[in-house]
Amino acid sequence: MSGVTMSRVLVLNGPNLGRLGSREPDVYGSQDLPALQALLEADAAGRIAIDLRQTNDEAELIGWLYEAVDTATPVILNPAAFTHYSYALRDAAALVTKAGIPLVEVHISNPHTREVFRHTSVISGIASGVIAGFGFGSYRLALQSLLLPEA
Ligand code: DQA
Repeated sequence: MSGVTMSRVLVLNGPNLGRLGSREPDVYGSQDLPALQALLEADAAGRIAIDLRQTNDEAELIGWLYEAVDTATPVILNPAAFTHYSYALRDAAALVTKAGIPLVEVHISNPHTREVFRHTSVISGIASGVIAGFGFGSYRLALQSLLLPEA
């Protein structure tokens, strides 16, 4: 991870995650993205800045991954439904990890317990790691993984 800017982490969220709080609370809980930001900031305790963003736009998400490459910034990525079919997003995410920058794929739910189309992730194969099924805890665990001292 040498050369990686560990002063900031990009926490990138794909389509429909802007509706967290009211979207299928039985699956995703009743907390929204500002609550997630507050949780991550509390966990980070000033050690790393939390730059949390959400978009429904595949192109915008890809642009943010280019930004991660160009600024050597680690990424926590919830690709949402793009997880299951966006080869364009996969290719952009591969630019991040191929540059030696960590990218942790996260999911609030455990997609493997859900519909069959959710069992495939086209992102996991190029991610540094995958954490799913722990609600907002998935993001918190991803942040902890980025803060671990290097082995
Ligand atoms: C999700 C799981 C995806 O299957 C779904 O399309 C989402 C959210 C999750 O966080 O559990 O939008 O990525």
